Amino acid sequence: ASADPAKGAEVFKKCTACHTINQGGANGIGPNLYGVVGKPHGHLPNFAYSDALKSVPGNWDFDAMDAWLTSPRKYAPGTKMTFAGLGNAQDRANVVAYLNSQGSN
Ligand code: HEM
Repeated sequence: ASADPAKGAEVFKKCTACHTINQGGANGIGPNLYGVVGKPHGHLPNFAYSDALKSVPGNWDFDAMDAWLTSPRKYAPGTKMTFAGLGNAQDRANVVAYLNSQGSN
């Protein structure tokens, strides 16, 4: 099945304890995620990212986001994101489509 941003919005409910995604939204336990797709890792100047995440090269393209959401601690050992990950590939594709729909990239 192709990625469905509306279904991804449902998956994103697992993220809202720590993340906002509205434009200019506040950082919480995690950084605001508006427009994050395509950006470098740890791009917000007003969020205290881990060195672990900031030291991963590259940008948040689909493959990077898919790997991150599969296992944050394997993608960036030492990350502050204490979230086990999403084991279901369709859920990951849908939530990345949702992230991609929130903000211009
Ligand atoms: C970082 C997505 C769940 C806490 C990030 C980043 C993304 C992301 C894309 C990197 C942002 C950037 O580089 O600017 C998601 C998604 C989630 C989720 C899609 C749900 C499927 C959570 C949860 C928590 C959390 C539940 C809290 C328990 C954090 C923290 C960071 C982070 C603390 C910063 C990591 C670091 O600096 O090492 N998240 N997240 N996230 N997230 Fe999440």
